[in-house]
Amino acid sequence: MPGGQLPTTLAGFEAAFREALPEGTLAYYAGAAADEITLGRNVEAWRELLLRPRVMVDVSNRDPSVELFGRSYGLPIAVAPTAYHRLAHPDGEEATARGSVAAGCPYTLSTLATSRPTPVGEAAPDGPKWFQVYVFRDREVTRELVAEAEEAGFEALLLTVDLPVLGRRDQEVGTGFVVGQAEGVPGVHAAGGEGEISMQDTADLIDPSLTWDDVGELAGSTDLPVLVKGVLRGDDARLAIEAGAAGVVVSNHGGRQLDTVQATAEALVEVVESIGGEASVMVDGGIRRGTDVAKALILGADFVLVGRPILWGLATGGAEGVEAVLSMLADEFDRALALLGVPRASELSGRDDLIA
Ligand SMILES: Cc1cc2nc3c(=O)[nH]c(=O)nc-3n(C[C@H](O)[C@H](O)[C@H](O)COP(=O)(O)O)c2cc1C
Repeated sequence: MPGGQLPTTLAGFEAAFREALPEGTLAYYAGAAADEITLGRNVEAWRELLLRPRVMVDVSNRDPSVELFGRSYGLPIAVAPTAYHRLAHPDGEEATARGSVAAGCPYTLSTLATSRPTPVGEAAPDGPKWFQVYVFRDREVTRELVAEAEEAGFEALLLTVDLPVLGRRDQEVGTGFVVGQAEGVPGVHAAGGEGEISMQDTADLIDPSLTWDDVGELAGSTDLPVLVKGVLRGDDARLAIEAGAAGVVVSNHGGRQLDTVQATAEALVEVVESIGGEASVMVDGGIRRGTDVAKALILGADFVLVGRPILWGLATGGAEGVEAVLSMLADEFDRALALLGVPRASELSGRDDLIA
């Protein structure tokens, strides 16, 4: 939306994003696996949780900040890792990082980014950044990317474990979507991808043999906290912690991997019961409103990650679009705290009475 005003609602951003992008990119960004049952359920599950606010609570001073990894974050909202940002906007991941940090939210850079960790770190030096790890069959490439991220000031590693093979994404396959030059995706190029490359070819570079031992190996090789992203069960969450992870991200990859898995709002409860209070629990999938953020915290999440809406902001307005989307969520979250009668985000956890 060059030169124009940015939309004032998330639905407006989504509509502008759909206008802005070619069919193949749109199918890649917006689509999900198979019948997209989980894609829809993720959004619905948050919406279906009905709130029971308290009234007559003094909410004149509100505090949306939370503690994580022993430090304070201004908001419990981070940007989920998503691939190939230069396909959404020419300023790519650097713009997303700038927009996230300007809104006070950690940015997670994907292994499948169209930039390396160093320039992204330099683009947004003053805010927290996390790095998402896919373990390539060529482990040396992964080790080098992690080392570069550490050097560039990234503060946590999110190890994605729900992509041993690629979910079958019908929309994307139907359009024949490929990323123009693998060279534009440095991680993929280093791992052996050449020329025009499909998501299937990219996924084939990722090691499908990962087990909990690999979590231990990664956690043992770095001083950064390692979070296991893509956990949907309490028993797996416990194994992640026993293997050395600092926490988990309850995620079904935005419905893009195994279709008909539970919505993340549902899976969150079991994971919190298993490891909540002992290790960090984040959640992503379908978070579209400040009330969704509040509900996730009530159910025991420490932090939420937001995926597609960031791409809507990026495609529509670059760094400013990303900042606007996150600021909108932050504003809604602040209003939710006031209207729920819980002025401090840190006091939402475990308040089951707030959900009908
Ligand atoms: C276009 C797209 C690309 C993604 N790329 C990655 C990725 O590179 N690494 C990863 O761990 N997750 C990836 N994800 C999953 C997101 O991190 C996140 O789990 C999901 O988008 C959250 O759901 P939401 O989009 O409903 O907010 C991707 C998701 C989308 C939509």
